[in-house]
Amino acid sequence: MTSGEGVTVWFTGLSGSGKTTISRELEQALLERKFKVELLDGDIIRTNLSKGLGFSKEDRDINIHRIGFVANLLSRNGVIAITAAISPYRNVRDRVRASIKNFVEIYVNAPLEVCESRDVKGMYAKARAGEIKGFTGIDDPYEPPLNAEVVCYTDRETVSESVAKSIAKLEELGYI
Ligand code: ADX
Repeated sequence: MTSGEGVTVWFTGLSGSGKTTISRELEQALLERKFKVELLDGDIIRTNLSKGLGFSKEDRDINIHRIGFVANLLSRNGVIAITAAISPYRNVRDRVRASIKNFVEIYVNAPLEVCESRDVKGMYAKARAGEIKGFTGIDDPYEPPLNAEVVCYTDRETVSESVAKSIAKLEELGYI
């Protein structure tokens, strides 16, 4: 039974863990099922809504609060808001969770070594070389969720499997 309400689907994980890939596939799958969906991807948010913010804890917290604010506006109006930012700090994620009625957290869990070997944007190499300071997982913290509704192990699951798990949880919780 679908609640007909919106929901915020909050992806969290290291850079290169697969958040963007899975969230885009999930978005497509939900659009095919005729849901209203909006994807708030960290990299895109940082070029407009959060333009000018850096990667200090303070700036990351502001970024996450902004994403949470918009996701709340959308999901309380019947939209499935999907977010895909690293969101490294547990207490800020939990604050966002507490402020949104329907909230599902998906931990995209890939070991640092795997994310680093993928190095999609070449940023881990720069971080290791000291050209980028305070890179998540290298010299900045990532606090994994303790009670995520879904955990995707992208080093041993296909994208389709991760999407299927996410959809199954949204169905189980009655959001779709
Ligand atoms: S968050 O910490 O505020 O949630 P967000 O997801 O918006 O981060 O942005 C992360 C992206 O910014 C990474 O995928 C990477 O491309 C880029 N980036 C640049 N500098 C850093 C950094 N110091 N730590 C992490 N990501 C960084």
